[in-house]
Amino acid sequence: MTKYNHLYSFNYDYHHSDLCKLESRQLFDVAEKDKLLFSNIKVDPSSSPFIKKRVDIISSSENYSELIKKIKKENIRIDGFKIEYLTLDGDTIEYTDKLKKLRDVGFCIESPPDYYNPSITFAICFYENVWYFGELINQTTDWLKHKSKPYSYSNSISINIAKTLVNIASKGDKSNKILDACCGAGTVILEGCISGFDIEGCDNNEKVYQHTLDNLSYYNYKANVYHTDIKDHNKKYDSAIIDLPYNHYSKTNDNLLSIIIESTAKLSPRIVIVSIEDIEPIIKKSGLKIADFCSVEKRGKLKFARNIWVCEKENHTD
Ligand SMILES: C[S@@+](CC[C@H](N)C(=O)[O-])C[C@H]1O[C@@H](n2cnc3c(N)ncnc32)[C@H](O)[C@@H]1O
Repeated sequence: MTKYNHLYSFNYDYHHSDLCKLESRQLFDVAEKDKLLFSNIKVDPSSSPFIKKRVDIISSSENYSELIKKIKKENIRIDGFKIEYLTLDGDTIEYTDKLKKLRDVGFCIESPPDYYNPSITFAICFYENVWYFGELINQTTDWLKHKSKPYSYSNSISINIAKTLVNIASKGDKSNKILDACCGAGTVILEGCISGFDIEGCDNNEKVYQHTLDNLSYYNYKANVYHTDIKDHNKKYDSAIIDLPYNHYSKTNDNLLSIIIESTAKLSPRIVIVSIEDIEPIIKKSGLKIADFCSVEKRGKLKFARNIWVCEKENHTD
């Protein structure tokens, strides 16, 4: 039985499966399987659109009675606790048995519980013949308020993709300084702000730049946004995100895309590039190494896909 500190559970629509796996490879160095993942790396579920729960494992055992003994030994005394039974892939325990097990665990904790307004939530679950008990951290849904931001465009990315781009770019490291190089209406910046990342943006279009400022102030977020062409921007970042302009919205061409990518590469050693075109040859020509990739279809629209490349500067030593 391998010992890990955390168990993560994921949820997503079928068309986001590859994107969730890309995110988990970048956050945990391994892709989730059966919407589950064990890791010693600690990630806040609320910073991901896909991580729904994290269990900080306190005790585990292949034997249920053994687990109960271990929980008792922990001498947990926290007023207002609550316990949830997490049903994971392959768990066929009957409902009444689950309730009994919740009671068993409850009796191990010598404090009054509070089901409706808990001060702490614990979880018990069973996966691949092992019982786990730990503290449960649920994803909060505050970020969904960004769906009603004042300004949005038909070419703006969804808040789910925006949120995961911040995680993929930063590898979940909140000390990262992140740039959204073509920020449009600021969809990515809003997700960075709510998750507590240090994120800035720039855009060369004055109207959309103003809309980013308005979107940020609507939610009371503080983030630097620059009305500038990326080729004239000169601050340094740990990671960057480029949601490249589309041919049918901006008069662009391969040369302009190269300039955007190469200019961003001067500012950051790690760049996540998003495009609806296959621009792999342009990325390779710019001297960036492609470390990971996925393609995200729009639900129900087989012919519309967003490609996401995780790129690193070759020979980067900092
Ligand atoms: C696909 S949109 C980004 C949409 C954005 N992610 C959102 O969700 O609102 C691409 C943006 O790149 C900006 N852009 C194009 N060329 C640029 C350049 N050279 N420097 C900075 N921004 C640029 C455009 O003004 C446009 O807002």
